[in-house]
Amino acid sequence: MTTITLDAVGKSFGDSRALTDISLQFPAGSFTALLGPSGCGKTTLLRLIAGFEQPTMGVVRFEGDVMADGTRMVPPEERNLGIVFQSYALWPHMDVAANVAYPLKGRGFGRAEIERRTAEALAMVSLTGYERRSVDALSGGQRQRVALARCLVTGTMIILLDEPLANLDVHLRAAMLDVFADTHKRTGATIVFVTHDQSEALALADTIVVLDGGRVQQIGTPEKIYGEPANAMVAGFVGRGSLVAASHGFAARGSASSRGKVLVRPHAVRLTETGLPASVLRLRYTGASYETTLVLANGDTLVADLPTRRGIGEEVRVTVDDAWSVPA
Ligand SMILES: Nc1ncnc2c1ncn2[C@@H]1O[C@H](COP(=O)(O)OP(=O)(O)OP(=O)(O)O)[C@@H](O)[C@H]1O
Ligand SMILES: [Mg+2]
Repeated sequence: MTTITLDAVGKSFGDSRALTDISLQFPAGSFTALLGPSGCGKTTLLRLIAGFEQPTMGVVRFEGDVMADGTRMVPPEERNLGIVFQSYALWPHMDVAANVAYPLKGRGFGRAEIERRTAEALAMVSLTGYERRSVDALSGGQRQRVALARCLVTGTMIILLDEPLANLDVHLRAAMLDVFADTHKRTGATIVFVTHDQSEALALADTIVVLDGGRVQQIGTPEKIYGEPANAMVAGFVGRGSLVAASHGFAARGSASSRGKVLVRPHAVRLTETGLPASVLRLRYTGASYETTLVLANGDTLVADLPTRRGIGEEVRVTVDDAWSVPA
């Protein structure tokens, strides 16, 4: 179990700042998602933790030991961590077992020990029986699992994942989400998972860090980030929802201000006899419901998940069961 601490970390590339004043703690055994739009600094933050980048400012610590600051830098191979990147970076000329065993080379393990550890790591990702298979003859999801097994084989207590599911289809992604959750449970490792996909972050992590423009926007549980976003950026980025004027008078949690915006999630909108007048602008069938965009009297749009199909232009009345007053 290893706690990772970043203290006032900043990173610039020449004149451009990638990260500013990042203070974060990843407690031992935690599963944290770094979430944010393209270019917000997720990969840079992961590379700082891994030791591929040196901070321009601040300190990176593992369990109280300084890994890097402005002057010192412990190289990646001495940080005892496992990394899975978006491109799996497997050795194409080696079979599955050789790929997984690769990090054990030159560490003084006997052959039996290497075989035991390799078998154990392959079992964790449900690839027992694939040892002699060439990695070229594997599906994308299987390759991803080989990469994960290779990262688990050394018994590392820090696992860094950079968009590991980006190349997979919907079904494989769902299966891999389970593999990651199981791996976390079994190993108790400290996991940092980079994604720009908020549903992955909500599904997997115990803590989500939302980044934008190289700065931390909010840190919290998935429920907190989804239910009580700290600002308009987080409200707009995480989950579906509509930001509408507080003046509609929807009952909202949080610090009420008549000038601000309130966030309304699609599931909290119902059509009723007595609600506010609105008209149907467009709809999209999602399988589970009709995602219906409504226009309110002042021109604000409100997205609702409705159980039945409404007509475009139809006049309806809406009630909102839950809303969050977004801090300015
Ligand atoms: N080696 C580098 N030299 C110069 N600028 C860099 C370098 N690496 C990253 N940057 C810049 O730092 C910023 C953050 O990049 P980073 O790769 O961390 O973003 P990201 O959040 O991982 O984005 P994506 O979701 O697209 O992968 C970007 O503006 C990027 O152009
Ligand atoms: Mg990236």
